[in-house]
Amino acid sequence: MKADVAVIGTGVMGSNLARNLARQSGHRVAVYDRDVERAQKLAADFPEADFLVASDPADLAGKLAEPRVAILMVNAGTATDSAISDLAEAFAPEDIIVDGGNSHFQDTIARGQRLEGTGIEFAGVGISGGEVGALLGPSLMVGGSDAAWQRLRPLLEPIAAKAKEVPCVDHIGSDGAGHFVKMVHNGIEYADMQLISEAFTLLRDGLGMAPAEIAEVFAEWNTGELESYLIEITADVLAHTDAETGAPFIDIVADAAKAKGTGAWTAQTGLALGVPVPTIAEAVFSRSLSSAVDLRAEGLRLAGPRPGAAATTSSDERAARIAEIGNALLLGKVMAYVQGFHEIAAGAREHGWDIDLGALAGIWRAGCIIRARLLDRIVEAFNAETRPKNLLAADYVRDVAERCQESLRATVVRAIGHGIAVPGLASTLSYYDGLRTEAGSAALIQAQRDRFGSHTYARTDRPGIFHTLWSGDRSEVEI
Ligand code: 6PG
Repeated sequence: MKADVAVIGTGVMGSNLARNLARQSGHRVAVYDRDVERAQKLAADFPEADFLVASDPADLAGKLAEPRVAILMVNAGTATDSAISDLAEAFAPEDIIVDGGNSHFQDTIARGQRLEGTGIEFAGVGISGGEVGALLGPSLMVGGSDAAWQRLRPLLEPIAAKAKEVPCVDHIGSDGAGHFVKMVHNGIEYADMQLISEAFTLLRDGLGMAPAEIAEVFAEWNTGELESYLIEITADVLAHTDAETGAPFIDIVADAAKAKGTGAWTAQTGLALGVPVPTIAEAVFSRSLSSAVDLRAEGLRLAGPRPGAAATTSSDERAARIAEIGNALLLGKVMAYVQGFHEIAAGAREHGWDIDLGALAGIWRAGCIIRARLLDRIVEAFNAETRPKNLLAADYVRDVAERCQESLRATVVRAIGHGIAVPGLASTLSYYDGLRTEAGSAALIQAQRDRFGSHTYARTDRPGIFHTLWSGDRSEVEI
């Protein structure tokens, strides 16, 4: 019997996705890897999956029912390009090649264009949920044509995570749309991780709490409005003890965070689109700063308060501070979503995608790394009868702001006073205050631009574009 779908690349993500497909979709799955032994080992380790192992792309094409569907689970970049060229030679018109990696959406658009003449469909699918998600139910963001979506849907719906019985998979839009929203998902993930880590640092260095005590705070937060996968795993990580030394695990992990690029892409795309995503960008910069070894070695000699100096507080005060940090975290998280959805709306306009933001928030409620209770409220907001123009206009966001802005402000002020770096929280607060400022610092910037470069300006009192003749008689001309 021929296979209905193939998975190319049998690393952990590919293997787990292939096993999920074999178990849940009721379809026969073929597997192929350039390292054929690795694919053979997968088939041998999981005989119940009944995988068909292909030895090369031509063999794979012969093992697949037509029209064929193949899902690439290989590294983004050149590995993806060469896997696509290999398959394109063996495949025929109407076959579909799916890229399930973290590819840049612009690469996905270009790859689709390159395949256009061949009649082979190309679909870029964002897959979130890590190794466990791939095996038990990821969140899937599908980009590509309607025709491709119709064919992929019966394969993907059974393997996706379920949020309130609804599969977390949707057709986001044509070509790069799926990878675009996956990129922003990761940007929000970076922001969320940064904010959580700052909350941890404030509890440790500002309140002098031990990792095990902080784990309890996170576990408690995970029973309320902050409930989310990332908060849950944070509690777990902080409660863990290093087997070798008996020390809290977090104390033996080197203070340097790595990144594979999707957060930087989200920030770069925000810059290119003119969309402010400061919390996401700060999260990327913070990882870079953490790894800037030479600079940090010099930095240790810089003047300023040392964290830890302010550890003594009464238990009531401590409880109040913990609650304050929790509120700051909640508003930060919500603002990261505001930034992410702003970028998605702008990207959709730029690329002609009709992205349903409510449906997207819906498929992020389970399976993916940023799954969180508050996404239910974001779904409600986008699906309300009078749809908010942007997430900031949603009643829920205004309500969180009302409840938490004082806490965010107090937390940032305290952190700054104690010399504790909180770039995520501080930039979120500046973003927040920037949004609510009627007349800020931009008027002077625009005036300076007109003064040195005749860049013109708009007036507050009447429409039009104007320039002042600064080097002449300083009269104003309308352009
Ligand atoms: C997911 C994740 C995943 C990503 C990792 C690591 O949604 O399952 O976003 O796709 O690769 O989170 O990302 P960094 O290495 O850049 O932190």
